[in-house]
Amino acid sequence: MTASAQQNGYTVAILGATGLVGSHLIQILEERQFPVKKLKPLASKRTAGSLINFMGQDITVEEATPDAFEGVDIVLASAGGSVSQELVPEAVKRGCVVIDNTSCFRLTEGVPLVVAGVNDADIQHHKGIIANPNCSTAQLMPVFKALDDAFGLERVIVSTYQSVSGAGKEGMDELMETTGTVYRLMGGPETGHRDEAKAPENRVFARPIAFNLVAQIDQFVEGGVEDGYTKEETKVIHESRKILHRPDLKVTATAIRVPVLIGHSESATLEFKKPVSPQEAMDILEKTPDVVVARNPKDFPTPVEATGKDPVYVGRIRRDTSNPEHGLNMWIVADNLRIGAALNAVRLAEVLVKNNWLKQGSARQEPAQV
Ligand SMILES: NC(=O)c1ccc[n+]([C@@H]2O[C@H](COP(=O)([O-])OP(=O)(O)OC[C@H]3O[C@@H](n4cnc5c(N)ncnc54)[C@H](OP(=O)(O)O)[C@@H]3O)[C@@H](O)[C@H]2O)c1
Repeated sequence: MTASAQQNGYTVAILGATGLVGSHLIQILEERQFPVKKLKPLASKRTAGSLINFMGQDITVEEATPDAFEGVDIVLASAGGSVSQELVPEAVKRGCVVIDNTSCFRLTEGVPLVVAGVNDADIQHHKGIIANPNCSTAQLMPVFKALDDAFGLERVIVSTYQSVSGAGKEGMDELMETTGTVYRLMGGPETGHRDEAKAPENRVFARPIAFNLVAQIDQFVEGGVEDGYTKEETKVIHESRKILHRPDLKVTATAIRVPVLIGHSESATLEFKKPVSPQEAMDILEKTPDVVVARNPKDFPTPVEATGKDPVYVGRIRRDTSNPEHGLNMWIVADNLRIGAALNAVRLAEVLVKNNWLKQGSARQEPAQV
């Protein structure tokens, strides 16, 4: 990174600029006034040539090819795992630092997996790639980290209620397109009858999503102790351990897709080494940056209220009646497109720039000193 790049801003490529996460990345770069000298929106052949607006200027989307990364300082990647697999190494070869939103490199040895404000220091060891966690993992981390530091987290049981935007533009479209049809097919509230023959096809989700719950996100794992889990569930397990530096942490998860447009909600049961009361946990979480606590159970957060907002919202903090001295239940809600993806990616870019950890070469070969 040259001194002039630091003074004049950075050339930032958005890989997947026309997608849901990509459009949020562009919006958040603007909102947070990230020092962008030049923005390079990249997408597939299908949308190359279309225009996106950044800081009042229309910019042409280019096709993502290896050479498109020439001269780029930072790549924010959200074009899917197979695209990252192919193009992220090409970007790194050309001197870029990539913050990748896909699952491609999250568990790769030597790739930091980071939630801003939770394990920022891990970034300094990057070798060109920094991974953003899965959206359902990301929003849990500020809460778990604060409570782990205070009371020693021993075991976590999570059930997720994940919005359709977690499956991208097509997921939102499928919910919107099928909801009215399904309502009419059911004959309105009077009959509740469903004419399966006329039901709209589900392309994105494993079952119809309108007025339904789908107990499958991503593919099923076959074999081993995780046999029967979905990959989404195993992401929560393995990514939490990596981010919290707790390879021993007992974690299990059930991931459910719900007919909500934006915002993931999660029910978590936590078991601690030290005794803990709901009040003590709330006191800790109230002092935790990026976390908003509802002390009154009636003020529980909802995904609609969390949409477009930056914090992680926590409510319904109460004793686990099956483990009242050492266990708590809670309800954790956040905007998956922001905390779970775009906001975290931009905050990681800010950490890189602020600490001068972007430096190409030095950051790759030997970790910077802090
Ligand atoms: N949605 C979330 O809450 C969330 C959270 C964390 C991580 N992620 C991850 O972020 C990634 C994108 O998610 P999304 O929700 O933004 O999906 P999306 O709305 O479907 O957008 C996908 C983007 O990828 C681009 N793309 C697809 N194939 C491409 C190719 N061959 N070459 C270049 N660009 C290509 C698309 O461009 P075209 O418009 O040209 O097709 C589009 O810009 C996924 O890996 C997802 O797992 C998503």
